[in-house]
Amino acid sequence: MNSIVLTHHSDYSLITINRPQALNALNAEVFSELDSVFSGPLPETSRLLVITGSGEKAFAAGADITEFSDLSGPAARELSRRGQIIFDKLSTLSIPTLALVHGYALGGGLELALACQIRVVTKKAVMGLPELNLALIPGYGGTQRMASLIGKGKAIYYTLTSENMDAETAVQAGLADFVVEDQDAGVAFIEKFAKKLSFKSAVSIGLALSAIEQSGTAGGFEKESDNFQKAFETEDMKEGVGAFLEKRKPVFKHR
Ligand code: HXC
Repeated sequence: MNSIVLTHHSDYSLITINRPQALNALNAEVFSELDSVFSGPLPETSRLLVITGSGEKAFAAGADITEFSDLSGPAARELSRRGQIIFDKLSTLSIPTLALVHGYALGGGLELALACQIRVVTKKAVMGLPELNLALIPGYGGTQRMASLIGKGKAIYYTLTSENMDAETAVQAGLADFVVEDQDAGVAFIEKFAKKLSFKSAVSIGLALSAIEQSGTAGGFEKESDNFQKAFETEDMKEGVGAFLEKRKPVFKHR
């Protein structure tokens, strides 16, 4: 891999977009490499997939604008669809996904963060959808995910004005979930979170995630009951309940 770096830590895996000279702009190579990570298995010990950007300045400053100049209209549509499909893979993984945002998360970069389930931002985060400055619109899911996170009215305001949000505004609006002081504090947050996940059954984590992913949809409650049954039928559930009754810590086998 050339444009992203994938590292595995004790309880989580970390993708670092590695194009600091272009503020980690998402080019075709970044997308192919992300696709291969989202399509392949991660180590069994990874309970969380984290995405961040290299350097001090940016998570990712958008799609790589230098790739736009020679695109036809239909090729632009294809670019948007391919990005959406890859980001959909990310948002439906069986482990939770977390964007650690420091500096700029703009346009496609913000859309990548929005496709993660949790956003942790440092105090220097700057988040926005500047596509309309280019007479474009968001194309990697931003028109859909932004509205479902912060409501239609605010999504329309921020998309049409291209105004950025700072960390505090983003948390208040619901665009970001947690603010940390700096990147080191972000890593400490991640390590603690992943450690907590390591004590749970990976099966129940996956079942909870896929039910929560359907929240707000017509089938959401049905999905919850389906997944409740699946959890109920696992060996881990017997261990969890048995351990509670026997007043000991459970040892899950993830099945
Ligand atoms: C390609 C980019 C880039 C981008 C920055 N760079 N953003 N290259 N695509 N999205 C490059 C610059 O050209 C420059 O390269 C280097 O990174 C440093 O950027 P500067 O502009 O010199 O830094 P600074 O003055 O600090 O300004 C930072 C910035 C600005 C405010 C973030 O770079 C900026 O406005 N970038 C574009 C943001 C944007 O419009 N994003 C949305 C893209 S459209 P050189 O070689 O000159 O050093 C999009 C659509 C998604 O995302 C949907 C598609 C289907």
